[in-house]
Amino acid sequence: MPATIVIGAQWGDEGKGKITDLLAEKADVIARYQGGNNAGHTIVRDGEEFKLHLIPSGILYAGKTCVIGNGVVIDPRIMFEELEALRSRGIPGDNLQVSGNAHLIMPYHLLLDGASERQLGRFKIGTTGRGIGPCYIDKYTRTGIRVQDLLDEKILRRKIHTALEEKNWLLQHYDLGVLDPDQVTDDLLAYRERFESFICDASLLVNQALDDDKHVLFEGAQGALLDIDFGTYPFVTSSNPIAGGACTGAGVGPTRIDHVVGVAKAYTTRVGEGPFPTELFDDVGAAMCEVGHEFGTTTGRKRRCGWLDLVALRYAVRTSGITHLAITKLDVLSGLPGLKVCTGYRAGRRVHEEFPLLQTDFHHAEPLYEELPGWSEDLRECESWQDLPETARDYVQYIATFTQTRVKFIAVGPARDETIILPRSIGRGGAV
Ligand code: IMP
Repeated sequence: MPATIVIGAQWGDEGKGKITDLLAEKADVIARYQGGNNAGHTIVRDGEEFKLHLIPSGILYAGKTCVIGNGVVIDPRIMFEELEALRSRGIPGDNLQVSGNAHLIMPYHLLLDGASERQLGRFKIGTTGRGIGPCYIDKYTRTGIRVQDLLDEKILRRKIHTALEEKNWLLQHYDLGVLDPDQVTDDLLAYRERFESFICDASLLVNQALDDDKHVLFEGAQGALLDIDFGTYPFVTSSNPIAGGACTGAGVGPTRIDHVVGVAKAYTTRVGEGPFPTELFDDVGAAMCEVGHEFGTTTGRKRRCGWLDLVALRYAVRTSGITHLAITKLDVLSGLPGLKVCTGYRAGRRVHEEFPLLQTDFHHAEPLYEELPGWSEDLRECESWQDLPETARDYVQYIATFTQTRVKFIAVGPARDETIILPRSIGRGGAV
Protein backbone atom coordinates (compact mmCIF):
# COMPACT_ATOMS: atom_id res chain seq x y z
CA MET A 1 0.00 0.00 0.00
CA PRO A 2 2.41 2.72 -1.12
CA ALA A 3 -0.16 5.53 -0.98
CA THR A 4 -3.27 5.14 1.16
CA ILE A 5 -5.79 7.77 2.17
CA VAL A 6 -7.79 7.29 5.37
CA ILE A 7 -11.01 9.27 5.53
CA GLY A 8 -14.04 9.51 7.75
CA ALA A 9 -17.02 8.14 5.83
CA GLN A 10 -19.73 9.76 7.97
CA TRP A 11 -19.97 13.05 9.94
CA GLY A 12 -16.58 12.72 11.64
CA ASP A 13 -15.65 10.97 14.88
CA GLU A 14 -15.67 7.55 13.21
CA GLY A 15 -12.53 6.36 14.96
CA LYS A 16 -10.07 7.40 12.26
CA GLY A 17 -7.32 7.97 14.83
CA LYS A 18 -7.22 4.32 15.74
CA ILE A 19 -7.29 3.04 12.15
CA THR A 20 -4.69 5.61 11.09
CA ASP A 21 -2.54 4.53 14.00
CA LEU A 22 -2.81 0.91 12.87
CA LEU A 23 -1.93 1.73 9.27
CA ALA A 24 0.79 4.15 10.36
CA GLU A 25 2.80 1.24 11.64
CA LYS A 26 3.63 0.28 8.05
CA ALA A 27 3.92 3.84 6.71
CA ASP A 28 7.07 5.91 6.34
CA VAL A 29 5.30 9.24 5.96
CA ILE A 30 1.99 10.29 7.51
CA ALA A 31 0.44 13.46 6.12
CA ARG A 32 -2.59 15.47 7.16
CA TYR A 33 -4.24 17.31 4.30
CA GLN A 34 -7.17 19.43 5.55
CA GLY A 35 -8.95 20.87 8.56
CA GLY A 36 -7.22 22.05 11.67
CA ASN A 37 -7.62 21.65 15.39
CA ASN A 38 -11.37 21.20 14.94
CA ALA A 39 -10.40 17.52 14.65
CA GLY A 40 -9.90 15.24 17.60
CA HIS A 41 -8.18 11.91 17.25
CA THR A 42 -7.99 9.61 20.23
CA ILE A 43 -5.35 6.91 20.18
CA VAL A 44 -4.95 4.31 22.91
CA ARG A 45 -1.44 2.90 22.98
CA ASP A 46 -0.31 0.38 25.63
CA GLY A 47 -3.09 1.59 27.91
CA GLU A 48 -2.03 5.23 27.49
CA GLU A 49 -4.47 7.62 25.84
CA PHE A 50 -3.33 10.35 23.43
CA LYS A 51 -5.65 13.03 22.12
CA LEU A 52 -4.39 14.85 19.06
CA HIS A 53 -6.14 17.73 17.36
CA LEU A 54 -3.70 19.04 14.81
CA ILE A 55 -0.57 16.96 14.68
CA PRO A 56 -0.83 13.76 12.59
CA SER A 57 -1.21 10.59 14.66
CA GLY A 58 2.03 9.25 13.19
CA ILE A 59 3.92 11.54 15.58
CA LEU A 60 3.76 8.75 18.15
CA TYR A 61 6.18 6.70 16.05
CA ALA A 62 9.87 7.49 16.05
CA GLY A 63 11.52 7.26 12.65
CA LYS A 64 8.45 8.26 10.62
CA THR A 65 7.98 11.60 8.97
CA CYS A 66 4.85 13.48 9.95
CA VAL A 67 3.60 16.12 7.56
CA ILE A 68 1.08 18.93 7.92
CA GLY A 69 0.08 19.62 4.33
CA ASN A 70 -0.78 22.87 2.60
CA GLY A 71 -4.52 22.16 2.93
CA VAL A 72 -4.41 22.26 6.74
CA VAL A 73 -5.08 25.41 8.75
CA ILE A 74 -2.77 25.82 11.72
CA ASP A 75 -3.31 27.58 15.00
CA PRO A 76 0.35 28.03 16.04
CA ARG A 77 -0.50 28.17 19.75
CA ILE A 78 -2.25 24.82 19.55
CA MET A 79 0.49 23.24 17.45
CA PHE A 80 3.21 24.13 19.92
CA GLU A 81 1.07 23.25 22.93
CA GLU A 82 0.46 19.82 21.42
CA LEU A 83 4.15 19.36 20.74
CA GLU A 84 4.98 20.40 24.31
CA ALA A 85 2.42 17.98 25.73
CA LEU A 86 3.91 15.17 23.64
CA ARG A 87 7.43 16.06 24.72
CA SER A 88 6.40 15.96 28.37
CA ARG A 89 5.32 12.36 27.74
CA GLY A 90 8.62 11.42 26.15
CA ILE A 91 7.68 11.88 22.47
CA PRO A 92 10.21 14.26 20.91
CA GLY A 93 8.05 15.33 17.92
CA ASP A 94 11.12 16.34 15.93
CA ASN A 95 9.88 14.28 12.98
CA LEU A 96 7.24 16.92 12.17
CA GLN A 97 7.31 18.83 8.87
CA VAL A 98 4.93 21.68 8.06
CA SER A 99 4.07 22.92 4.59
CA GLY A 100 5.14 26.51 3.98
CA ASN A 101 1.88 26.93 2.08
CA ALA A 102 -0.40 26.00 4.99
CA HIS A 103 -2.52 28.86 6.30
CA LEU A 104 -2.42 30.16 9.84
CA ILE A 105 -5.41 30.61 12.11
CA MET A 106 -5.13 34.15 13.42
CA PRO A 107 -6.65 35.60 16.61
CA TYR A 108 -9.28 37.43 14.55
CA HIS A 109 -10.40 34.14 12.98
CA LEU A 110 -11.25 32.79 16.42
CA LEU A 111 -13.21 35.92 17.32
CA LEU A 112 -15.06 35.96 14.01
CA ASP A 113 -15.98 32.25 14.23
CA GLY A 114 -17.81 32.89 17.51
CA ALA A 115 -19.33 36.14 16.29
CA SER A 116 -20.76 34.70 13.09
CA GLU A 117 -22.32 31.82 15.01
CA ARG A 118 -23.96 34.26 17.42
CA GLN A 119 -25.16 36.32 14.46
CA LEU A 120 -26.74 33.24 12.84
CA GLY A 121 -28.67 32.55 16.05
CA ARG A 122 -30.95 29.56 15.64
CA PHE A 123 -29.55 28.99 12.13
CA LYS A 124 -26.01 28.51 13.48
CA ILE A 125 -23.75 25.76 12.13
CA GLY A 126 -22.57 24.59 15.54
CA THR A 127 -18.89 25.03 14.66
CA THR A 128 -16.10 23.99 16.98
CA GLY A 129 -15.24 27.66 17.46
CA ARG A 130 -11.63 27.09 16.43
CA GLY A 131 -11.55 29.73 13.69
CA ILE A 132 -11.57 27.17 10.88
CA GLY A 133 -14.20 28.73 8.60
CA PRO A 134 -12.86 32.31 8.85
CA CYS A 135 -9.32 31.08 8.12
CA TYR A 136 -10.44 29.26 4.96
CA ILE A 137 -12.46 32.34 3.96
CA ASP A 138 -9.24 34.35 3.95
CA LYS A 139 -7.43 31.61 2.05
CA TYR A 140 -9.98 31.81 -0.75
CA THR A 141 -10.23 35.59 -0.77
CA ARG A 142 -6.41 35.60 -0.95
CA THR A 143 -5.92 37.58 2.24
CA GLY A 144 -4.70 34.66 4.36
CA ILE A 145 -1.42 34.46 6.26
CA ARG A 146 0.69 31.43 5.37
CA VAL A 147 3.40 29.67 7.32
CA GLN A 148 6.04 30.92 4.87
CA ASP A 149 5.05 34.53 5.60
CA LEU A 150 6.78 34.11 8.94
CA LEU A 151 10.07 34.08 7.06
CA ASP A 152 9.59 37.63 5.77
CA GLU A 153 8.70 40.04 8.54
CA LYS A 154 8.05 42.96 6.21
CA ILE A 155 5.52 41.07 4.12
CA LEU A 156 3.95 39.50 7.20
CA ARG A 157 3.44 42.89 8.85
CA ARG A 158 1.97 44.37 5.70
CA LYS A 159 -0.39 41.43 5.21
CA ILE A 160 -1.63 41.59 8.79
CA HIS A 161 -2.16 45.36 8.52
CA THR A 162 -4.16 44.86 5.34
CA ALA A 163 -6.20 42.01 6.79
CA LEU A 164 -6.99 43.95 9.95
CA GLU A 165 -8.30 46.94 8.03
CA GLU A 166 -11.28 44.78 7.13
CA LYS A 167 -11.33 42.50 10.19
CA ASN A 168 -11.28 45.37 12.68
CA TRP A 169 -14.24 46.87 10.93
CA LEU A 170 -16.05 43.55 11.32
CA LEU A 171 -14.93 43.08 14.92
CA GLN A 172 -16.27 46.51 15.79
CA HIS A 173 -19.52 45.66 14.08
CA TYR A 174 -19.76 42.66 16.41
CA ASP A 175 -18.82 44.79 19.44
CA LEU A 176 -15.54 42.96 19.86
CA GLY A 177 -13.22 45.96 19.83
CA VAL A 178 -10.19 46.10 17.54
CA LEU A 179 -6.87 44.28 17.31
CA ASP A 180 -3.56 46.10 17.02
CA PRO A 181 -1.86 44.89 13.81
CA ASP A 182 1.65 45.36 15.19
CA GLN A 183 0.82 43.43 18.33
CA VAL A 184 -0.75 40.60 16.30
CA THR A 185 2.36 40.52 14.08
CA ASP A 186 4.76 40.49 17.04
CA ASP A 187 2.79 37.73 18.78
CA LEU A 188 3.01 35.62 15.65
CA LEU A 189 6.68 36.33 15.11
CA ALA A 190 7.34 34.87 18.54
CA TYR A 191 6.73 31.47 16.90
CA ARG A 192 9.04 32.10 13.95
CA GLU A 193 12.14 30.46 15.30
CA ARG A 194 10.30 27.36 16.43
CA PHE A 195 8.50 27.12 13.08
CA GLU A 196 11.69 27.43 11.05
CA SER A 197 12.90 23.93 11.83
CA PHE A 198 9.62 22.43 10.62
CA ILE A 199 8.93 24.33 7.39
CA CYS A 200 9.10 22.17 4.27
CA ASP A 201 7.83 21.74 0.72
CA ALA A 202 5.29 19.10 1.67
CA SER A 203 4.37 18.23 -1.91
CA LEU A 204 8.01 17.61 -2.79
CA LEU A 205 8.57 15.57 0.34
CA VAL A 206 5.54 13.35 -0.23
CA ASN A 207 6.22 12.80 -3.94
CA GLN A 208 9.88 12.00 -3.34
CA ALA A 209 8.85 9.48 -0.71
CA LEU A 210 6.54 7.82 -3.25
CA ASP A 211 9.29 7.87 -5.89
CA ASP A 212 11.49 6.03 -3.39
CA ASP A 213 8.79 3.37 -2.92
CA LYS A 214 8.09 4.54 0.58
CA HIS A 215 4.65 4.16 2.09
CA VAL A 216 2.66 7.35 2.54
CA LEU A 217 -0.49 7.54 4.59
CA PHE A 218 -2.78 10.53 4.10
CA GLU A 219 -4.78 11.20 7.22
CA GLY A 220 -8.16 12.86 6.73
CA ALA A 221 -9.99 14.77 9.43
CA GLN A 222 -13.77 15.20 9.90
CA GLY A 223 -15.80 13.14 7.44
CA ALA A 224 -17.23 12.92 3.93
CA LEU A 225 -20.62 14.27 5.00
CA LEU A 226 -18.95 17.38 6.42
CA ASP A 227 -17.22 18.07 3.10
CA ILE A 228 -17.70 21.63 1.86
CA ASP A 229 -18.71 20.39 -1.62
CA PHE A 230 -20.39 17.04 -0.95
CA GLY A 231 -21.51 17.30 2.65
CA THR A 232 -24.79 18.49 4.10
CA TYR A 233 -24.11 22.12 3.20
CA PRO A 234 -24.24 24.57 4.96
CA PHE A 235 -23.86 22.30 8.01
CA VAL A 236 -20.36 21.27 7.02
CA THR A 237 -16.79 22.20 7.70
CA SER A 238 -14.90 24.54 5.37
CA SER A 239 -12.52 22.06 3.74
CA ASN A 240 -12.56 18.85 1.68
CA PRO A 241 -12.31 15.80 3.96
CA ILE A 242 -13.12 13.52 0.99
CA ALA A 243 -10.23 11.62 -0.56
CA GLY A 244 -9.77 14.18 -3.34
CA GLY A 245 -8.78 16.64 -0.61
CA ALA A 246 -5.59 14.66 -0.10
CA CYS A 247 -4.46 15.54 -3.62
CA THR A 248 -5.04 19.27 -3.29
CA GLY A 249 -4.15 19.40 0.39
CA ALA A 250 -0.83 17.57 0.18
CA GLY A 251 0.21 18.25 -3.41
CA VAL A 252 -0.02 14.74 -4.81
CA GLY A 253 -1.64 13.66 -8.07
CA PRO A 254 -4.68 11.32 -8.08
CA THR A 255 -2.80 8.76 -10.17
CA ARG A 256 -0.43 8.14 -7.28
CA ILE A 257 -3.10 6.98 -4.83
CA ASP A 258 -3.46 3.21 -4.39
CA HIS A 259 -6.10 2.76 -1.69
CA VAL A 260 -8.76 4.74 0.08
CA VAL A 261 -9.82 3.41 3.47
CA GLY A 262 -13.18 4.76 4.66
CA VAL A 263 -13.79 4.59 8.38
CA ALA A 264 -17.41 4.25 9.47
CA LYS A 265 -19.01 3.51 12.80
CA ALA A 266 -21.42 0.59 12.97
CA TYR A 267 -24.05 3.25 13.75
CA THR A 268 -24.08 7.00 13.06
CA THR A 269 -23.19 10.07 15.10
CA ARG A 270 -23.07 13.77 14.43
CA VAL A 271 -22.04 16.83 16.45
CA GLY A 272 -23.27 20.31 15.77
CA GLU A 273 -26.36 21.25 13.82
CA GLY A 274 -27.69 19.86 10.56
CA PRO A 275 -29.93 17.13 9.20
CA PHE A 276 -29.53 13.57 10.44
CA PRO A 277 -32.41 11.36 9.24
CA THR A 278 -31.60 8.28 11.33
CA GLU A 279 -31.12 10.20 14.59
CA LEU A 280 -32.66 8.50 17.61
CA PHE A 281 -34.28 10.36 20.50
CA ASP A 282 -35.16 7.24 22.47
CA ASP A 283 -33.45 4.83 24.88
CA VAL A 284 -31.56 3.13 22.05
CA GLY A 285 -29.94 6.45 21.04
CA ALA A 286 -29.15 7.16 24.70
CA ALA A 287 -27.60 3.70 25.06
CA MET A 288 -25.40 4.24 21.97
CA CYS A 289 -24.24 7.54 23.45
CA GLU A 290 -23.48 6.03 26.83
CA VAL A 291 -21.91 2.75 25.76
CA GLY A 292 -20.02 4.40 22.89
CA HIS A 293 -18.85 7.35 25.07
CA GLU A 294 -20.13 9.69 22.42
CA PHE A 295 -18.75 13.00 23.60
CA GLY A 296 -16.56 15.17 21.36
CA THR A 297 -12.78 14.95 21.78
CA THR A 298 -12.43 18.60 20.82
CA THR A 299 -15.40 20.36 22.39
CA GLY A 300 -16.74 17.75 24.82
CA ARG A 301 -20.17 18.15 23.21
CA LYS A 302 -22.59 15.24 23.40
CA ARG A 303 -22.84 13.58 20.02
CA ARG A 304 -26.21 12.90 18.44
CA CYS A 305 -26.63 9.16 17.81
CA GLY A 306 -28.69 7.07 15.40
CA TRP A 307 -28.89 3.98 13.22
CA LEU A 308 -26.41 3.28 10.47
CA ASP A 309 -27.30 5.24 7.35
CA LEU A 310 -26.20 3.04 4.47
CA VAL A 311 -27.37 5.43 1.76
CA ALA A 312 -25.09 8.14 3.19
CA LEU A 313 -22.27 5.63 3.55
CA ARG A 314 -22.62 4.48 -0.07
CA TYR A 315 -22.52 8.15 -1.08
CA ALA A 316 -19.24 8.54 0.83
CA VAL A 317 -17.90 5.44 -0.94
CA ARG A 318 -18.80 7.06 -4.26
CA THR A 319 -17.45 10.56 -3.62
CA SER A 320 -14.16 9.28 -2.22
CA GLY A 321 -13.68 6.11 -4.25
CA ILE A 322 -13.35 4.13 -1.02
CA THR A 323 -11.67 0.80 -1.71
CA HIS A 324 -11.83 -0.61 1.82
CA LEU A 325 -14.04 0.01 4.81
CA ALA A 326 -13.09 -0.03 8.46
CA ILE A 327 -16.19 -0.62 10.59
CA THR A 328 -15.64 0.71 14.10
CA LYS A 329 -17.46 0.34 17.42
CA LEU A 330 -19.29 -2.82 16.41
CA ASP A 331 -19.11 -3.81 20.10
CA VAL A 332 -21.35 -0.86 21.05
CA LEU A 333 -24.32 -2.54 19.36
CA SER A 334 -24.11 -5.68 21.53
CA GLY A 335 -27.29 -6.33 23.46
CA LEU A 336 -29.67 -4.55 21.12
CA PRO A 337 -32.34 -7.06 20.07
CA GLY A 338 -32.75 -5.72 16.53
CA LEU A 339 -30.62 -3.42 14.42
CA LYS A 340 -32.01 -1.04 11.86
CA VAL A 341 -30.06 0.14 8.85
CA CYS A 342 -31.30 2.89 6.56
CA THR A 343 -31.52 1.77 2.95
CA GLY A 344 -33.50 4.66 1.46
CA TYR A 345 -35.36 7.85 2.32
CA ARG A 346 -38.86 9.06 1.75
CA ALA A 347 -39.15 12.80 1.12
CA GLY A 348 -42.69 13.89 0.38
CA ARG A 349 -44.04 11.38 -2.12
CA ARG A 350 -40.63 10.47 -3.48
CA VAL A 351 -38.43 7.61 -2.43
CA HIS A 352 -34.69 8.26 -2.69
CA GLU A 353 -32.37 5.34 -3.12
CA GLU A 354 -29.38 7.64 -3.53
CA PHE A 355 -28.26 10.56 -1.38
CA PRO A 356 -30.62 13.40 -2.40
CA LEU A 357 -29.21 16.25 -4.44
CA LEU A 358 -31.52 18.83 -2.91
CA GLN A 359 -30.83 20.00 0.59
CA THR A 360 -34.56 20.35 1.31
CA ASP A 361 -35.14 16.69 0.46
CA PHE A 362 -32.43 15.59 2.88
CA HIS A 363 -33.79 17.88 5.60
CA HIS A 364 -37.20 16.24 5.27
CA ALA A 365 -35.96 12.73 4.57
CA GLU A 366 -37.65 9.99 6.56
CA PRO A 367 -35.45 6.91 6.76
CA LEU A 368 -36.62 3.63 5.27
CA TYR A 369 -35.22 0.82 7.35
CA GLU A 370 -34.23 -2.78 6.96
CA GLU A 371 -34.18 -4.60 10.28
CA LEU A 372 -31.41 -7.09 11.00
CA PRO A 373 -31.06 -9.37 14.01
CA GLY A 374 -28.74 -8.25 16.80
CA TRP A 375 -26.44 -10.22 19.11
CA SER A 376 -26.03 -10.32 22.86
CA GLU A 377 -22.38 -11.40 23.12
CA ASP A 378 -19.63 -9.01 24.20
CA LEU A 379 -17.43 -8.65 21.11
CA ARG A 380 -14.34 -7.25 22.80
CA GLU A 381 -12.67 -10.63 23.07
CA CYS A 382 -13.22 -11.44 19.38
CA GLU A 383 -9.97 -11.65 17.49
CA SER A 384 -11.07 -13.01 14.14
CA TRP A 385 -14.01 -13.03 11.76
CA GLN A 386 -14.92 -16.51 12.96
CA ASP A 387 -15.00 -15.32 16.60
CA LEU A 388 -17.81 -12.91 15.82
CA PRO A 389 -21.39 -14.11 16.39
CA GLU A 390 -23.09 -15.06 13.13
CA THR A 391 -25.52 -12.12 13.32
CA ALA A 392 -22.62 -9.68 13.74
CA ARG A 393 -20.96 -11.20 10.67
CA ASP A 394 -24.24 -10.86 8.76
CA TYR A 395 -24.46 -7.21 9.79
CA VAL A 396 -20.98 -6.48 8.43
CA GLN A 397 -21.66 -8.51 5.30
CA TYR A 398 -24.83 -6.49 4.73
CA ILE A 399 -22.82 -3.24 4.88
CA ALA A 400 -20.28 -4.59 2.38
CA THR A 401 -22.97 -5.76 -0.03
CA PHE A 402 -25.07 -2.61 0.18
CA THR A 403 -22.10 -0.28 -0.34
CA GLN A 404 -20.35 -2.61 -2.81
CA THR A 405 -17.15 -2.19 -0.83
CA ARG A 406 -14.72 -4.53 0.87
CA VAL A 407 -14.52 -4.52 4.66
CA LYS A 408 -10.96 -4.83 5.86
CA PHE A 409 -11.06 -3.79 9.53
CA ILE A 410 -13.61 -4.33 12.28
CA ALA A 411 -13.02 -2.54 15.59
CA VAL A 412 -14.51 -4.20 18.65
CA GLY A 413 -13.06 -1.96 21.37
CA PRO A 414 -11.05 1.25 21.78
CA ALA A 415 -7.59 -0.30 22.15
CA ARG A 416 -5.34 -0.82 19.20
CA ASP A 417 -5.38 -4.61 19.47
CA GLU A 418 -9.17 -4.72 19.70
CA THR A 419 -9.35 -4.67 15.94
CA ILE A 420 -10.03 -7.57 13.63
CA ILE A 421 -7.96 -7.30 10.48
CA LEU A 422 -9.52 -9.50 7.86
CA PRO A 423 -6.95 -11.48 5.90
CA ARG A 424 -9.29 -11.52 2.93
CA SER A 425 -11.64 -8.56 2.99
CA ILE A 426 -15.33 -9.25 3.32
CA GLY A 427 -17.32 -8.01 0.35
CA ARG A 428 -15.89 -7.69 -3.09
CA GLY A 429 -12.88 -9.91 -2.39
CA GLY A 430 -9.18 -9.11 -2.31
CA ALA A 431 -7.01 -7.66 0.41
CA VAL A 432 -5.09 -4.44 1.09
P1 IMP B 1 -15.95 23.82 12.02
O1 IMP B 1 -15.15 22.79 11.31
O2 IMP B 1 -15.42 24.13 13.40
O3 IMP B 1 -16.17 25.05 11.20
O4 IMP B 1 -17.42 23.21 12.29
C1 IMP B 1 -18.33 22.94 11.22
C2 IMP B 1 -19.11 21.66 11.50
O5 IMP B 1 -18.25 20.55 11.42
C3 IMP B 1 -19.78 21.61 12.87
O6 IMP B 1 -21.01 20.91 12.75
C4 IMP B 1 -18.81 20.79 13.69
O7 IMP B 1 -19.44 20.14 14.77
C5 IMP B 1 -18.33 19.79 12.63
N1 IMP B 1 -16.99 19.27 12.91
C6 IMP B 1 -15.82 19.89 12.75
N2 IMP B 1 -14.80 19.09 13.09
C7 IMP B 1 -15.34 17.92 13.46
C8 IMP B 1 -14.80 16.68 13.88
O8 IMP B 1 -13.59 16.47 13.96
N3 IMP B 1 -15.70 15.70 14.17
C9 IMP B 1 -17.04 15.89 14.04
N4 IMP B 1 -17.58 17.02 13.64
C10 IMP B 1 -16.75 18.04 13.36
